[in-house]
Amino acid sequence: MQLKKYDYDRLLYEYREKFDNKNPLQYTVNFLRNKVDKYNWVGIYMVEDDDLVLRAWDGPEATEHVRIKIGEGICGLAAKEQFTVVVPDVSKDSRYIACFPNTKSEIVVPIFNNGKVIGEIDIDSDLIDPFDKKDEHFLESIANFLGSLL
Ligand code: SME
Repeated sequence: MQLKKYDYDRLLYEYREKFDNKNPLQYTVNFLRNKVDKYNWVGIYMVEDDDLVLRAWDGPEATEHVRIKIGEGICGLAAKEQFTVVVPDVSKDSRYIACFPNTKSEIVVPIFNNGKVIGEIDIDSDLIDPFDKKDEHFLESIANFLGSLL
């Protein structure tokens, strides 16, 4: 199946233009899920001590994994290593913590503030291998913008 193409520069511009200072986390998850079809579930976890705590999400269902230890799962790995982690096929990655039966792939992008990871954007997709470098750059730009304002 041909993946839909997105103008990520335009989306980034729109994200910044309409940014909701009063509700930055919820605005961000809603924006990403509404704008990009392959982003089926979007969550933002924030660092609290040694844990990642789910602070906002948008998707068809809630996850049980509202608190994840740094170092555990794909989410914990991205926070610990402080870089974006892409898993094209979750069935082939033993580090993956399963949340939704439909999920086939995942991308986790750290949110930095003053060089420290303060949270992350976690996106699950129902497609295999849907994330490319453009998604990574787009989501890192969103995370940088958000991180500088939190
Ligand atoms: N799959 C994640 C857990 C969070 S859910 O995707 C919402 C992980 O492996 O860390």
